[in-house]
Amino acid sequence: MASNWTADSWRGFEARHLPTYPSAEKLADVERTLTRFPPLVFAGEARALKADLANAAAGNAFLLQGGDCAESFAEFHPNNIRDTFRVLLQMAVVLTFASKQPVVKVGRMAGQFAKPRSSPVEVQNGVELPSYLGDNINGMEFTPESRIPDPDRLLKAFSQSASTLNLLRAFATGGYANLRQVHQWTLDFMGRSPWADKFGEMADKIGEALDFMAACGIDPQTQPQLQGTSFYTSHEALLLNYEQAMTRQDSLTGGWYDTSAHMLWIGDRTRFAGSAHVEFLRGVGNPIGMKCGPSLTPDALLDLLDTLNPAREPGRMTLISRFGDDKVEAGLAPLVRAVKREGHPVLWSCDPMHGNVIKANSGYKTRPFDRILNEVRGFFAVHRAEGTHAGGIHIEMTGQDVTECVGGAVAITSEALADRYHTHCDPRLNAAQSLELAFLLAEMLNLERADRKAEAA
Ligand code: PEP
Ligand code: CO
Repeated sequence: MASNWTADSWRGFEARHLPTYPSAEKLADVERTLTRFPPLVFAGEARALKADLANAAAGNAFLLQGGDCAESFAEFHPNNIRDTFRVLLQMAVVLTFASKQPVVKVGRMAGQFAKPRSSPVEVQNGVELPSYLGDNINGMEFTPESRIPDPDRLLKAFSQSASTLNLLRAFATGGYANLRQVHQWTLDFMGRSPWADKFGEMADKIGEALDFMAACGIDPQTQPQLQGTSFYTSHEALLLNYEQAMTRQDSLTGGWYDTSAHMLWIGDRTRFAGSAHVEFLRGVGNPIGMKCGPSLTPDALLDLLDTLNPAREPGRMTLISRFGDDKVEAGLAPLVRAVKREGHPVLWSCDPMHGNVIKANSGYKTRPFDRILNEVRGFFAVHRAEGTHAGGIHIEMTGQDVTECVGGAVAITSEALADRYHTHCDPRLNAAQSLELAFLLAEMLNLERADRKAEAA
């Protein structure tokens, strides 16, 4: 167990991006209420995810992590949860087939509310108000009242997280995730898009593999594991008041776990040395993600790894690089080398979203799909060159047919962004773009596999 750590020791450290609540008493009251609520996840599940991630860190699995930039109270609907879950499963089938490795599925779901913002204020038509910080903190509506942090929003966020997680668990194990069904959705989807030509061959091969297995007596009717899947949750552990209140001591091992999600990550803006966020996360037993952007030096990264994973436990650390497509090759290589040299067992994952935001002429914040793909290519190129495993992808996506990122096979133009721009924060890949990304990732994973085979021969 971490030394000199308590669930509230972060309060003695520098905490950036936390809201200032008008009433400390009311906040403390809500925190006390939350500490009495049931945990959302069980420590044993967090350990199971850690074992899966350790397998990926060792080069034998791939991590698929995705969901909204920010979940919201307004978009809370079972169909949204279902559709995002479905696209993640479809992506996972394509990636499993290509890599011939298990795909570890982790939603940016059931708790991804709080957002670090680049500016503490927002100006509209000459009026300045505090920025929107996520639905668990304040409201998106541009009024002074709505922008006041309200602790009661934590209770609503907890309840939404609990019911989202409940539905995800039901889908994952109740028959919705049937492998044959998931592949059929992909085929239906492809029939309606220009990729039938591009990706038809791989889709056909997956179908043939399923037919072959069925002929051998292996199908969802006979094999329960083809009817269900494991699915985990994650979010940025930004609002430490909430995370602390959800932290419990595991009755089996005596270790402390943040039971708000299976995996928690530290954002690029809160991973500095001496940060309250680092202090908090070093003491919980969950698998931890950390965003690695252009400002992170190899030495600082090694220090953070020593703090967050002193025992060098495999599966504990996932490093999520987010450089921007023009910076990834030069920026990532030195980090990968340093970590490899020091022998830290980490899983490398690629977030091709947060370094590739631009403002479209129409004024919308967007991300060009080409740049997203380019960053993924750069990420794979670095790992190929360094002989390390390109082990995962972290994306902001939705199962809805939104128009937030420009480009893709069903090209979304800069003018079309206004059609269905629904995100509460950053632009997300829509269902079609997410699946297209999965097929392109599959091509890269195929190459990595071919490399390995050649090496082994
Ligand atoms: C995010 O993932 O929503 C985010 C804010 O990312 P980063 O910390 O990498 O900027
Ligand atoms: Co984001």
